[in-house]
This record gives sequence, C-alpha cells and structure tokens, in this order.
Amino acid sequence: MAQRVRSFLREDTEPVVALWQRCGLTRPWNDPRRDIERKLTVQPELFLVVERAGAVVATAMAGYDGHRGWVYYVAVEPALQGAGLGRTLMTEVEARLLALGCPKVNVQIRGGNEPVAAFYARLGYAEDGATGFGKRLIPDD
Ligand SMILES: CC(C)(COP(=O)(O)OP(=O)(O)OC[C@H]1O[C@@H](n2cnc3c(N)ncnc32)[C@H](O)[C@@H]1OP(=O)(O)O)[C@@H](O)C(=O)NCCC(=O)NCCS
Repeated sequence: MAQRVRSFLREDTEPVVALWQRCGLTRPWNDPRRDIERKLTVQPELFLVVERAGAVVATAMAGYDGHRGWVYYVAVEPALQGAGLGRTLMTEVEARLLALGCPKVNVQIRGGNEPVAAFYARLGYAEDGATGFGKRLIPDD
C-alpha cells in the first residue's frame, strides 16, 4: 500500500493526538497539543509522520540538540503494529539526524512500558546505563 514519510503538518494535530491516545502515550501532566505547538517552533521538520491512504498511521517527534538526537512520541497505529512501520520510521529519523551530524540518538522508555525495549533492541539500541532525571519548567496541567 502506498505510504510516505513526511513532516507533521498542523492539520495533523487532532488525528495525531487521537493516535497517541490509542497508543497509550498521553499523560495528564503533558498536554499533547501544547507539546505539538512547542515542537512546531523548534526543528518542526524533524517531527515525522507516516501517511497511508490519507491517514496518519505513525509518528516520531525527533530533535538534535547539538550533542544528542532525541526521539519522542514514537507511535504506530495499533492495528498496524508488528509490520515494520516502526522500523521504517526510525530508520528515517536516524537518517535525518545523521544528515545533521548527530553522533548518537537516545530514546526514553517510561516506567511500565519496558516491553518496548525489545523493539529498540531490534533496531540496534542498547541501554546505556544512564538514569534520566527531569525537572518541569512549564506545568501543563
Ligand atoms: C513500539 C512501536 C512503535 C513499534 O512499532 P512497530 O511498527 O510495531 O514495530 P516494527 O514492526 O517496525 O518492529 C521492528 C522490529 O522490532 C520487533 N518488535 C516490535 N515490537 C516488539 C515487541 N513489543 N517485542 C519484541 N519485539 C518487537 C519486531 O519483531 C521487528 O523485528 P525485526 O524487524 O527484526 O523482525 C509500536 O508497537 C507502538 O506504537 N507501541 C505503542 C507506543 C509505544 O510504546 N511507543 C514507544 C514509546 S518509547
């Protein structure tokens, strides 16, 4: 089936938020629409979606901070999981980060979502022994 990887467009917002909800990626303390608006101000071209038959079926929100690449909101439509879409999208993310000179890409796996580590392992990612610390600067709730 024809599909393409392209950058996110603002009109994708509601379908993408709905996809993230179906994939269990939204949290009360992260307003997904605000996350999208912020991303549209910084490297919006690295916010990728897979479009198939006019519908967004996968997303990856990437960025390069000059030291590492980061990828958030990696999501594939539940009915289409396990068919290579996630790999296709992450391959494109990595190619775009590499084109910017990015030497390493990181992902964060939320507590409770450990099984997804097997997906990243298949793509060549390995746990690097670092513990993620975060501090909220702008509350969304
Ligand atoms: C994680 C996710 C993006 C993977 O996308 P996908 O399209 O199902 O993955 P793919 O079909 O491209 O799989 C790529 C490889 O990983 C493997 N894989 C994928 N999910 C796996 C799992 N849960 N356990 C073990 N292996 C897995 C596949 O077997 C495949 O291996 P191969 O290509 O070497 O044969 C998708 O399952 C998803 O959206 N999950 C819910 C949201 C989520 O948790 N996102 C990650 C947040 S950190």
